[in-house]
Amino acid sequence: MRWLGWVITSLVLSGCETVASQRDNTRDNELLTLGRSVFLTYCAACHGTQLEGTDSGPPLIWNLYVPRHHSDRQFKKAIQEGVPQHHWSFGPMPAQRQLTEMEADAVVFYVRSTLRQHGIR
Ligand code: HEC
Repeated sequence: MRWLGWVITSLVLSGCETVASQRDNTRDNELLTLGRSVFLTYCAACHGTQLEGTDSGPPLIWNLYVPRHHSDRQFKKAIQEGVPQHHWSFGPMPAQRQLTEMEADAVVFYVRSTLRQHGIR
């Protein structure tokens, strides 16, 4: 009857995995919701509601914003410390110091996942 133990163990384990991955999805969705609302409040005026850019700032849907050129850390640094003008000619990006640490992480997560949806990964 040893096999019965295995069957039960593997059923329990796969059940745990399902719960864990559902939890991950819930957390991701919460981060995305927060990130999107932060983006619309603090970023869209320059970067556009669809990350398409405006007269005041560049699009973020841009091939050079792939992670190997601009890491998540760099994105977060840009938000927290600002960036001098270097790729575009809109002037520097001012630091967005009003964001909490969690809001900064959430907005980076949101921008990254939107870039991925556009095949920029
Ligand atoms: C006042 C306009 C303005 C606002 C508000 C603004 N940005 Fe920017 N952002 C810019 C400009 C201009 C650049 C381009 C700088 C360059 O490369 O020349 C930029 C660049 C960036 C970059 C690329 C950074 C890099 O290292 O090259 C990211 C990521 C970014 N912005 C995200 C955000 C996010 C997220 C927010 C909101 C929390 C935000 N920006 C708010 C103007 C703005």
